Amino acid sequence: MSTAQAPTAHDPTGVLRAPLPEDPHEALHAVRERTRTLVAGLTRAQLETQFDPLLSPLVWDLAHIAAYEDLWLVHRHGGRPLLHPELAAMYDAFETPRAVRGDLELLDVPAAWAYLDDVRGRVDEVVAERGVDPELHELVLRHELQHTETMLQAMRLGGLAPWLDALPGGAGDARPAGADARPREQSDDVAARALARVRRPALIDVPAPDGRVSVGADPEGFAYDNERPRHERPLEPFRIARRPVTVETWRAFAADGGYDDRALWSDDGWAWRAGGAGTDVRDSTGGGGYAGPPPGARGEDEAACHLSFFEAEAIAAWCGLRLPTEAEWEHARASGLLHDAGAVWEWTASPFEGYPGFVPRPYPEYSAVFFGRGYRVLRGGSFASHPRVATASFRNWDLPERHQIFSGVRLAADAPDHPSGAPASRRPTAGGRA
Ligand code: AVJ
Ligand code: FE
Repeated sequence: MSTAQAPTAHDPTGVLRAPLPEDPHEALHAVRERTRTLVAGLTRAQLETQFDPLLSPLVWDLAHIAAYEDLWLVHRHGGRPLLHPELAAMYDAFETPRAVRGDLELLDVPAAWAYLDDVRGRVDEVVAERGVDPELHELVLRHELQHTETMLQAMRLGGLAPWLDALPGGAGDARPAGADARPREQSDDVAARALARVRRPALIDVPAPDGRVSVGADPEGFAYDNERPRHERPLEPFRIARRPVTVETWRAFAADGGYDDRALWSDDGWAWRAGGAGTDVRDSTGGGGYAGPPPGARGEDEAACHLSFFEAEAIAAWCGLRLPTEAEWEHARASGLLHDAGAVWEWTASPFEGYPGFVPRPYPEYSAVFFGRGYRVLRGGSFASHPRVATASFRNWDLPERHQIFSGVRLAADAPDHPSGAPASRRPTAGGRA
């Protein structure tokens, strides 16, 4: 069983990050309890509604979790036939993309829970017969943890959980972007100083004496295929913000006309802006969830959440800074320099690619099919990520226009006195830095 944690503003349920047993089979059961707790307050209608084409109806995630467990633990590990081979395509993420999942005759809620329970019963039998496969168990339990984060995104967009929704930046908050960034009674002087302050996050100097750094997961233990092999990357001295971009900075960017300043945006980012997105906390998602504080945040000083990569780039340009590369982020994290890591996922400049020598495992659809398709890497983890998933080498990824995830950004810069430390051009360049 999971050990409950004290509820916090970010996690009134107290279960999001509660420790899990080390033992993979016990952990599997504890993860299921966590999933049940997170959806416990929802009605059947809420679980069966698709609130946004970017996200599935929650009941799809539930049955998909069952199908995944059936495939990997019952079928592959246990050597038994699938419980519901006729459902395999409907609950395969690639054969049935998110946008169409609301139009299908999905299993209803009682049938989805029955599917979960039946599969789990068979897993228990398989484990009694042949023990655990540590790698496949870990794959399956982390899969469920990852899907509960996706489900929380849907719950936030759909306004399904009061603790996610009635908070600043949630669906209940109709404040326009930037509305209170610069109170009118302030003198121009004070306002200018405040603007300068939010534009200049505290940066830490990170030396790179060896000129290179090791990146990726060690060969031992569980890691996703895309975290291996551990390898060396060139690294030049750089600077990185102690904390992610705050809500205050994001609002000041908006109030200063950042959303309309072409010079701050990449070509792709501007095309996305021209499509009408990115001006309001509730913009194109309809149900809430544009940039704002993360759920549960209480102050303007907290990490901005629901930023797209394009917004992250534009805010960086407005501050005269840039996004960190993955290698820089991982190195700074390993050096213990990053505060507030784990509040929001942090966009990096790096495209999602395989590391040199990448080998797909256990199946190419986990990561390999996303390589070279414009996805960007996010690092760290959000308030909704379980630490069992959000490890130091974990790589999350999404498309640069996406903002339904709990995403923010931590800014970086070249070292000022380094030969390559020429001032960055204001406009983000397409492709960024690898
Ligand atoms: C790592 C979060 C990008 O949701 O597409 C879930 C995780 N993989 N089921 C995703 C995942 C298969 C993945 N992300
Ligand atoms: Fe999945």
